[in-house]
Amino acid sequence: TALKKTAVERINTAGVDVESLRVKLLGRKGELTTLLKGMKNVPAQDRKTVGEVGNHVRQTITNLLAEKKAAEEVAKLNKQLASETIDVTLPGSSHVVGQPHVLQQIIDEIEQHFLGLGFKIIDDTVDSPEVETDEYNFERENLPKDHPARDMQDTFYITPEILLRTQTSPVQSRSLEKHDFSKGPLKMIAPGKVYRRDTDDATHSHQFHQVEGMVVGENITMADLKGTLLSIMQALFGEKHQIRMRPSYFPFTEPSVEVDVSWNEVTPDMKPEDIEWIEVLGAGMTHPNVLRMDGVDPEKYSAFAFGLGPDRFAMLKYGVDDIRQFYLNDIRFLSQFNQKG
Ligand code: PHE
Repeated sequence: TALKKTAVERINTAGVDVESLRVKLLGRKGELTTLLKGMKNVPAQDRKTVGEVGNHVRQTITNLLAEKKAAEEVAKLNKQLASETIDVTLPGSSHVVGQPHVLQQIIDEIEQHFLGLGFKIIDDTVDSPEVETDEYNFERENLPKDHPARDMQDTFYITPEILLRTQTSPVQSRSLEKHDFSKGPLKMIAPGKVYRRDTDDATHSHQFHQVEGMVVGENITMADLKGTLLSIMQALFGEKHQIRMRPSYFPFTEPSVEVDVSWNEVTPDMKPEDIEWIEVLGAGMTHPNVLRMDGVDPEKYSAFAFGLGPDRFAMLKYGVDDIRQFYLNDIRFLSQFNQKG
């Protein structure tokens, strides 16, 4: 009876391990088992009573242990369920998601527009090298050695013949060389990075971007150039913006123009002097010398070309006042241009 009492207490206060307690009490060498084995020493007339008590005690202990074990399993399951609960009403944790660089976003926009006009995009990893030869960057663009206009673009030379391209215009020649006119006119744009020996300041960077454009075919006119440029400017700035062309000079185009886009929206009732113009790109009708050097007959084909600057567009579009910001890769600056935001 004393054993029953302590057993009950031990079961109630037992911690986790019900199984080892069972072995201790009821196992082959367990306490109760040992006690019952002592039966042979009990006087015969008492055996029945002692046996009954013993069995009763065993039954009680067994029941209690079973209850305890069941309770323990329920507790374990509850604990597991609690730890695995997902509260779907809690706000999720946010992740930092990457995005294209702001300049790439502008270039993507330009590419989408020209794809829609049936232009092909020259792969800047294959047909548009940043390390160029003097021949493609200058000579084939109608800039022979000692041409004074070479001073317009201060150049990083690697060797006397190899340089960092100062413009994307060499891609004109590289694409023309490969073009098969039996398949129709050449219509291409070539986005890429260019380099000039400028001292960096808020409006100058020794590295920046250009998107070259060129159309070569039969009867290509300046009206085609103007229509093309108007469509891209309206795509970038909005339908209500206008462009104007001013005479300019580039060695590889004749005539050459500088193109302005209206900063404000233009309405029919507006006086010309109310329009604020900003210069955005250079363009012109391709010089016959350029076509000739690229193996194209200028009597049969005519062409226009343009070069626009995504850096300048991004500065205008977002009010960025320092071009160097585009190249510092400061995440606080760049994350402002989240496309989803
Ligand atoms: N390559 C010229 C520049 O970098 C831009 C341009 C391209 C002008 C094509 C006319 C035609 O300034």
